[in-house]
Amino acid sequence: MSEQPFSDTSTESAKKPLTTLSHDALARQRSEDSLEKIDNLSGGFEGILARVRESAHSPNRTKVLERDFTMGWVAEKLGYSTEGLRFKESEGAIPPQEKDARGRRVKYSLDQFRDIQQKLELNPGRGESENPAVIACANFKGGCGKTTLSVHMAQYLAIRGYRVLFIDADPQASASMLLGSQHEVDLNSDDFEFTLEEYLSEQIQDFSSTIRPCYFPGIDLIPSDILLSGADYHLISRMQMTPDVLTLLQKGIQSVWKDYDVVVIDPPPALGALSLSVLAAVSGLVVPMRPTLVDFDSTYKFLRMISGNLDVIVERGFDIDYRFVTVALNGYDETKAVHKEIVEGMNVRFSRGQLFETVMRNSAEIDNASRDLRSVYDLTGPTGNHKVYKRCVSYLDALFSEVELKIQQGWPSNSETLRAQGRG
Ligand SMILES: Nc1ncnc2c1ncn2[C@@H]1O[C@H](COP(=O)(O)OP(=O)(O)OP(=O)(O)O)[C@@H](O)[C@H]1O
Ligand SMILES: [Mg+2]
Repeated sequence: MSEQPFSDTSTESAKKPLTTLSHDALARQRSEDSLEKIDNLSGGFEGILARVRESAHSPNRTKVLERDFTMGWVAEKLGYSTEGLRFKESEGAIPPQEKDARGRRVKYSLDQFRDIQQKLELNPGRGESENPAVIACANFKGGCGKTTLSVHMAQYLAIRGYRVLFIDADPQASASMLLGSQHEVDLNSDDFEFTLEEYLSEQIQDFSSTIRPCYFPGIDLIPSDILLSGADYHLISRMQMTPDVLTLLQKGIQSVWKDYDVVVIDPPPALGALSLSVLAAVSGLVVPMRPTLVDFDSTYKFLRMISGNLDVIVERGFDIDYRFVTVALNGYDETKAVHKEIVEGMNVRFSRGQLFETVMRNSAEIDNASRDLRSVYDLTGPTGNHKVYKRCVSYLDALFSEVELKIQQGWPSNSETLRAQGRG
């Protein structure tokens, strides 16, 4: 890591004067200079990023979930009173809550909560013979919140007790970074396994070897990095002759899905073979959209485009099975007239199956958390204003509880419970 990431490392002064070079040599020199400019600039980024990671993930550069949970929170989530939970403890049905040196009960970790939930047989997952939900947050519009929503959604589901596999299928690897992956560090480590790029480029057959543990209990991660864009080229070049390559991801997911309830995918923003592979693999689509006219228009084009592309996939004999395709309005700012107009207009024209009722607000909490490579569900408390934090968590919870309901509706074993709750 450079101590002075912004210092000028260019070596231009050491080179020959351009006027003494032949035409070809001149062109080569210009090309080399151009690449060097990019490399120098990216070197500057690398240094700063390493420093940010170090401070966000200290002390041992590994991200940990610092958040913990009171007995009241655990009891409420499990539908118990605290007395009821203590009784279960005294019966030995669940492990006793740990105590500190002064004999005070310490809060539960998420691992401990999930363990208690399992011991009480209250985990909300699918029936054994049912398939996991495979959900992508997809829209080709850059910056609409795909990564933000997919990471928070995976974490919400893990906190609820589901077993989640998160697949970062975007070479930008923003979700991997938020989920604690440090690819350039892991690449040099002995326990580094294989990558999604190697699986999709058919260098390896074992999809499971691309899965890694994540600091967030309940989530396993298939991280991404810039090399994943190579998989896109591989898939495109083989697509004409072997259209089956578009189902490689789907088959990979199916080879491991007995271990999960939900698979969440963060797809690349552009339409290519990789995003087609994601679209062929999912059973539900959350379509994040910012409430502006430009985003409205590009979401329309996105839907038209994927419908055309999926048509081709279906014509080639592949099955797709979408349980829901639903727009999630994200980044709403009630002080903006155009946002209000679009939200109100969409609420009138779209059904609940097409548009989530919860409109995710634009929240400083999301920005503040991401500054430290954290999500809002990572936070142990507000980054600033308590009200802003509470509001942000309540909107995220409300949005993902709608997604959760759609997931549950896909599992017939839950239909009786849902009907009893009036949600079937
Ligand atoms: N509801 C929100 N409130 C505040 N900031 C948000 C919200 N949603 C997303 N952001 C911020 O907007 C930026 C873009 O979001 P994000 O990276 O999730 O978009 P994306 O669709 O994944 O982008 P890309 O197309 O580049 O993959 C990020 O800085 C994120 O923190
Ligand atoms: Mg993204």
